[in-house]
This record gives sequence, structure tokens and C-alpha cells, in this order.
Amino acid sequence: MAEYIFEVFRFDPDADSKPRFDIFRVPPFKKGLTVLEALFYVQEKLDGSLAFRSSCREGACGSCAMHINGKYRLSCETQVKDLFSDKVVVQPLGHLRVLRDLVVDMEPFFAKYKYIMPFLMPGSPPPERERPQTVGDQMKVLPSVDCILCACCHASCTVTGTDPEYLGPAALLWADRFVRDSRDDALDERLRLVDQLHGIWRCHTIFSCQEVCPKDLDPTGAIADLKRRALRRKLLGQ
Ligand code: FES
Repeated sequence: MAEYIFEVFRFDPDADSKPRFDIFRVPPFKKGLTVLEALFYVQEKLDGSLAFRSSCREGACGSCAMHINGKYRLSCETQVKDLFSDKVVVQPLGHLRVLRDLVVDMEPFFAKYKYIMPFLMPGSPPPERERPQTVGDQMKVLPSVDCILCACCHASCTVTGTDPEYLGPAALLWADRFVRDSRDDALDERLRLVDQLHGIWRCHTIFSCQEVCPKDLDPTGAIADLKRRALRRKLLGQ
């Protein structure tokens, strides 16, 4: 492999009338070269104006999510060789406003996360030490706690694309995570937040979110769980 051809989405809303793709030639300068490392190569050696986000570079912070060769992925975890192509097309996350190049405005995404109240709401005063959980109780919230809020699921969701107010798979996965938690006592309030026009019933169970999740989580299953709980609450009062 002499070099990879990177086609990278470029757009500066303050200067450009429309987006374009720039082409960069990146040599395979190291074993296991990732898409993120290739973008750093472009930024450092070819075009210092290229904008993208990253932080941990090890799949923990969720800031480097992008659309790479047809799929939303973490660029720091995606090795170029695993794309099985000399050509790598990189675009920003969908359904979020482009601020510049591969950087999008994450505010609407995090606003939905905040809306579902992503913290424990116990019904009793704080204990002297901690609120213990059995292993079985812990297993009920695992592995949802591994969500790194990268927004791959949000960007891949067709409903989020047509209804910008839809809470989306990430926020609903977190809502379900707290509903399942044995230390939480706010079931009614949590179900009220998600059982609404732009909430759980908008999910069409297409599984795009599950397919792209870099942590192999199951937002579709979490939404189905919330639907079941909301129905049981309505019909049986449980
Ligand atoms: S840079 Fe943190 S997940 Fe990729």
C-alpha cells in the first residue's frame, strides 16, 4: 500500500457557501494506523486548518465519533486497514449542526441527556456510607453504564433525523439505566419524562443505534424496556 486517499468533509459556515470534500494522500506511516492518527497527519503535515475533535485517543471519551466509509465509528478505534479500502471518506456526525469541518454542535444532544435527569434520585435520606447493591442489582444496569455519549447512535437514528426533538437512543438508554437501578426511586417521574410525544413511542425499532454503538450496547432494547414499563404503569398501575 503506497498511500491512502482520504476524502474529508470540509465546511466553514462563516466562509463557505456550501460544503466540499478535500482529498489528502496519507502514507501508512505506522502499523495499526487509525483514522484519527491519519487526520492528525493531515492537520500537522498537509492542512493545519482541518478541524476535528478528539481527546483520550483510546475509545473512552467519545469525542472523536465520525462517519467513516459509510458507518458511524470512533476514529481513534478504527484502523485504516480494517476498512479494506485505499479510499477513506470521512464526514461529521449526522443530525447535528456543523460548526466546522468534522466538528458538530453537540449541545442539542447533551440537552436531551440532561433532560432525562442522568443522576440517582433515591427516595430516602443519604446513608452514612453508601447505598449497597447486590451483584444481581448491578448486573441490571450493566453494561449500559459503558455508554460514552459519542452520539454515533443519535447520528445513525432515522427518527432523530426527521424529528429533531426526539429524545434519541442515547438519552433513552440512560433513562432506562436509572429506571433499572435498585438505588433509584423516581420511576414515575422518569417514565413521565420519556412517555411523551418525542419520547419512547417515536422509536421505530430499526436497530441502527444498536448496529453502530462502538460499545456494543443495546439502546433499542432499552427503549423497548421503557415502553413495557410505561404500558404496565398505565394499564396495571405497576
Ligand atoms: S478520542 Fe476519545 S473516544 Fe476517540
